[in-house]
Amino acid sequence: MATDRSGSTVAAAGPCLLVLFGASGDLTKRKLIPALYNLVGDRLLAEEFAVIGFARRDTSDADFRDQMRRNISEYATDGVDERTWAWLQSRLYFVGGEFHDDEAYKRLEAKIKEVEDQHHTGGNVLFYLAVAPEFFDPIVQKLAVQGMVKQNDGRWRRVVIEKPFGRDLATAKALNDSLLKVLDESQIYRIDHYLGKETVQNILVFRFANGIFEPIWNRRYVDHVQITVAETVGVEGRGGYYDETGALRDMVPNHIMQLISLVALEPPISFHADAVRDEQSKVLRAVQPMTPEEVLQKAVRGQYGAGTIGNRRLPDYRQEDRVDSLSKTETFVAMKLEIDNWRWKDVPFYLRVGKAMAQRDTEIVVQFRRPPFALFRETTINDIDPNELVIQVQPDEGISLSFGAKIPGATMRIGSVDMDFKYSEHFGTEVATGYERLLHDAFVGDQTLFQRADMVEAGWRIVAPVLDVWSALAARDFPNYAAGSWGPKAADELMTRDGRRWHRQDR
Ligand code: BG6
Repeated sequence: MATDRSGSTVAAAGPCLLVLFGASGDLTKRKLIPALYNLVGDRLLAEEFAVIGFARRDTSDADFRDQMRRNISEYATDGVDERTWAWLQSRLYFVGGEFHDDEAYKRLEAKIKEVEDQHHTGGNVLFYLAVAPEFFDPIVQKLAVQGMVKQNDGRWRRVVIEKPFGRDLATAKALNDSLLKVLDESQIYRIDHYLGKETVQNILVFRFANGIFEPIWNRRYVDHVQITVAETVGVEGRGGYYDETGALRDMVPNHIMQLISLVALEPPISFHADAVRDEQSKVLRAVQPMTPEEVLQKAVRGQYGAGTIGNRRLPDYRQEDRVDSLSKTETFVAMKLEIDNWRWKDVPFYLRVGKAMAQRDTEIVVQFRRPPFALFRETTINDIDPNELVIQVQPDEGISLSFGAKIPGATMRIGSVDMDFKYSEHFGTEVATGYERLLHDAFVGDQTLFQRADMVEAGWRIVAPVLDVWSALAARDFPNYAAGSWGPKAADELMTRDGRRWHRQDR
């Protein structure tokens, strides 16, 4: 047992070797090595631990260690303690090679044996594929041919991949099918980095560690749910990827569906990975895919034009580097979804995601029904703000609940006030990469926070009709919102048509 930085007791991982494909890439240097470093600091790794970096470069172990040392100075979340770093550095190794080259895998296998002997990692290997998605399947197939993913004599072999998983339902299914030919589902750890966020993990705790919310968490009391993921950044040098992908694929079948499933799932029978994931999967399967006519009414797309955010001026999306100058790719999506099950029937889930928006804001708003009639003479029912529960995922992580209060004075006037919980005020701020928990879970074999094949496919199934209609009918009004605004007018109309409005939107 060890104590992490929050003071909780956590089991340290057992002996294992981490093989990092894409060891010279961005994810490795910005997130994975700093996350490992934090895990070392929290004493959550076994003594019998080592890392082999694998990448296309030809580098020695010593050069790799030097390179990682330089990177950690830049990307450590909280300064570098030399003793902690030395522990990790002495366990770093490197193999160079091409992902398609059989010889490289043989060299890797030999290196695994050598490092295993030295560090007693017990034959357990976590292959982390920090590479472009087109390499996921080829790498896994090569590992399988070499017998490197075979589990026997009590040793485990696991593979980590991170979204995107396919570009649509068909490609996601093809990827799952191919991986599942050579791996068991229990060996596949599909990361959605939203599940690494404390506030997202807290949704389950909030719902199920408290007795007072669950009884009202249903259609009798909830009017609707809104999920906003607004970013102020544009495409930030990722124009090539983004223009091929668009906001819908980039965010909705994955991150947004994770949020929806956690807010909407039924209480799992336990906190075991499959018990939780069964419920997530069930609720996603209950989201009704739209008909093409519904897509036209219930899904809105936008692309930003030039504008100002704070004191930053953004050009038209179409003028961004490696973006087509006539691009029809959306940088904003809003949608109204319906969950057809006993708990949520007729409770719309509205979602919106966008780049170059007025504020950075990821939040889930559960809006409760108004009281049935207005008791107070001067106040009509529409003057009473409905109670709102806001789960602020980022920034200013926290939860607030609004309620009506009498404004002091001789007359009976009602105003809305908030009960506010802020993580930073209560627990202080703990800086982390967001990958610590996920890596540790993969080392100890807990799949709760990883997406199962059926969940990935359920997410794509929900957005499939929208992808189809949008690709058949190219948008004609792009750009249709200014950078620094809250998206296109049609997104507001999606709400006003239903007599509702987006939360905290100061136009
Ligand atoms: C990524 C998307 O998955 O999530 C990015 O590809 C997006 O486009 C990012 O910016 C948002 O993550 P976060 O943690 O900043 O909300």
